[in-house]
Amino acid sequence: MRNLKNILVTGGAGFIGCNFIHQLLEGEPEFTGRIINLDALTYAGNSASLTDLAGQFGGTRYCFEHGDICDRGFVDALFNKYGVDTVVHFAAESHVDRSIYGPETFIKTNVMGTFTLLEAARNAWKQGDGVVFHHISTDEVYGSLGETGAFSETTPYDPRSPYSASKASSDHLVMAYHHTYGLPITLSNCSNNYGPYQFPEKLIPLMILNIVEGKPLPVYGDGKNIRDWVYVEDHNRAVWTILHTGITGEKYNIGGENEWENIRLLHTLIDLVSKKAGLDPEKVRGTITFVKDRPGHDRRYAIDCSKIKRELGWTRKVGFEEGLAKTVDWYLTNTSWVDGIRSGEYQHWVEKNYGERD
Ligand code: NAD
Ligand code: DAU
Repeated sequence: MRNLKNILVTGGAGFIGCNFIHQLLEGEPEFTGRIINLDALTYAGNSASLTDLAGQFGGTRYCFEHGDICDRGFVDALFNKYGVDTVVHFAAESHVDRSIYGPETFIKTNVMGTFTLLEAARNAWKQGDGVVFHHISTDEVYGSLGETGAFSETTPYDPRSPYSASKASSDHLVMAYHHTYGLPITLSNCSNNYGPYQFPEKLIPLMILNIVEGKPLPVYGDGKNIRDWVYVEDHNRAVWTILHTGITGEKYNIGGENEWENIRLLHTLIDLVSKKAGLDPEKVRGTITFVKDRPGHDRRYAIDCSKIKRELGWTRKVGFEEGLAKTVDWYLTNTSWVDGIRSGEYQHWVEKNYGERD
């Protein structure tokens, strides 16, 4: 069992990272260490997701560092300043559509940024004892499935989008640093997350908000693509488990064992949101709009997470019905968070790139 003291979380102002920090500081009493959140605050990063923590734990147990993971001097200085013994690397460009319209920042952040962090860790951790670098990755590195089967840790990589190719590259670098330099790494590949604080360009929050606002509900292609959904807190508990007891040099798949066709998920969301927001679900269904498919759209993802269940004893705790209800409630309640994050560069990007997609 590792004793984690000074944890450098990258991308902690994003969706999964901010949930991770909340969970650790508010829900893990046995964790008495410090979190250093390194985030560039891109369009997807939002310090409003962490303001309560800055007040409660700021300065001692929680420190925010505004910067870029590609900035080697800055990252080196953080390792020195805080005596970092653990890295949890969430920071990334994460949206597949954006990677299609503009792949360059994906290569910079996801490939060069990961490389920079690995070099900084290799330099700072000459001894290699009591330290660990955990890399957060995605099931998308494995490609696209047919009607049956699931991705296991030994499934060959076959990324299809600039996003997944950049994540696959970063995974390979992480593994290479372990094999070549002995850097103590662990790696996880997770399926689609949902929950509070997710940027509303992703399917579930986008649809919740569009339903409430009476906007069209854009379904790509025939709507029969399948994703395997896991509640963000379950993902983060898995990461926490790996950090403590995962074997260095190993990778672990994380998933919800919860496959849904996009269109079926949308009908479920329409029923749920309509009930909570007092809307007529049949009227809302009329706003479903089938739009041009995403280029290279992966058909089906499904994760075989038997390794982490068997070897580390993790299992998912939050069922889909419960998780979706919590998520919908959160978006209906936290309207100022939503307004804040949608007010900036996002709106401009949507108008520029999604304007003619129908
Ligand atoms: P997100 O887009 O919500 O957040 C990314 C965060 O990284 C933001 O706070 C952003 O400001 C920060 N960031 C981006 N570029 C940076 C840079 N150069 N330097 C420092 N910070 C930078 O992403 P997310 O959905 O929370 O995903 C987190 C990680 O989990 C990513 O690595 C992603 O590939 C992986 N992942 C996501 C999912 C999912 O369903 N969202 C599933 C599996 C894996
Ligand atoms: O599988 C893990 C991945 O899940 C993560 O690595 C990515 O960071 C994360 O963004 C997510 O990728 P997806 O492409 O699966 O998520 P997204 O929410 O963009 O889309 C989910 C599905 O819904 C996908 O089949 C495309 C479809 N879709 C999406 C949007 C935004 C629509 O039909 N309409 C939409 O408007």
